[in-house]
Amino acid sequence: MATSPPAPAIAPPRLRGLDHLEWWVGNARTFAGFLAAAFGFEPVAYAGPETGRRDRVSYLVRQGDVSLLVSGALDPDSPIADHVRRHGDGVRDVAFLVDDVDLAHAAAVARGGRSLRDPADDTDEHGTIRHAAVATYGDTVHTLLDRSRYDGPFAPWFAPTDLHAAPGASVGLTGIDHVVGNVDQGTLGRWVSFYEDVFGFEQMVHFDDDQISTEYSALMSTVVWNGGRVVMPINEPADGRRKSQIEEYLDFYRSPGVQHIALSTNDIVATVRALHERGVRCMDVPADYYPAARERMAGIDLPWDDLEALGILVDRDRHGHLLQIFTETVTDRPTVFFEIIQREGARGFGEGNFKALFEAIERAQARRGNL
Ligand code: FE2
Repeated sequence: MATSPPAPAIAPPRLRGLDHLEWWVGNARTFAGFLAAAFGFEPVAYAGPETGRRDRVSYLVRQGDVSLLVSGALDPDSPIADHVRRHGDGVRDVAFLVDDVDLAHAAAVARGGRSLRDPADDTDEHGTIRHAAVATYGDTVHTLLDRSRYDGPFAPWFAPTDLHAAPGASVGLTGIDHVVGNVDQGTLGRWVSFYEDVFGFEQMVHFDDDQISTEYSALMSTVVWNGGRVVMPINEPADGRRKSQIEEYLDFYRSPGVQHIALSTNDIVATVRALHERGVRCMDVPADYYPAARERMAGIDLPWDDLEALGILVDRDRHGHLLQIFTETVTDRPTVFFEIIQREGARGFGEGNFKALFEAIERAQARRGNL
């Protein structure tokens, strides 16, 4: 029996890295000001009616290699207003930098991605940005963009900002380590396949619910990545005795979406001290965490008094160790938060801390009456 030849394989889009993350919020000026005042981001660029964009305002804030775009609606019919009504403030776009937008978009769509925006140019006197977009979990999107022909502050319609927040000294954030999404129970495998199929990502590691569970809640997590600097863990809730933190997120965000953004530093003690002074509050650590942590980290010289005073968590794998801390949610709804991470060789995500962390999260959940 004759068999038809397999369809020619289309190579996945080649991603150079993360370009920026875009937040859609209720008040872009205050959220951008909060990122500047509390996290030391520098306001870089602004777009709005004064610069020729009528339907929204956007602020770009930057620190190290981290670019966060914060946008708010000027019109009740704006998709941003719809998004905020449904999800509260959240991350709308995890934008990837690519060499060839047309090729990347065509490849993503041919491999099963859903196009939200066909390739188009935005041009001003600084040059041209070509961009397209495909959908991912919930109402979240991946813009694919090429800025190689552009030399302005960020993109067309953006001018140097008039947001005179005083960021003071940088708190030492250097880049985005990973971006984590929460998806509905029973769909983790589907979303892992989505990133494998559409973007050619690979699985880096999988954590089962027996590895990530507390007395009350459990989750499963798979880390997918592009083999380079784009690392995207995906969580789904698992059955526990009470509502898991992932379920709380899904209930309040009203769909899958980005749960946390991990930001790198080379000196987490200095960074977290600076964040505390600026009023950033972090999840508290159980009192019994440190004696056990010192045993786990035996043989590694660490500033334990500082770590304990600041509530910094520690973990190790066969490649090295890492230090990390999680902020409280930075949104009104209990949804999105930041992680600060210092890697000293370790390639993990703080698996050894999951249990201690979740117990801390659950204490906060209980205070909100959502456990
Ligand atoms: Fe993380």
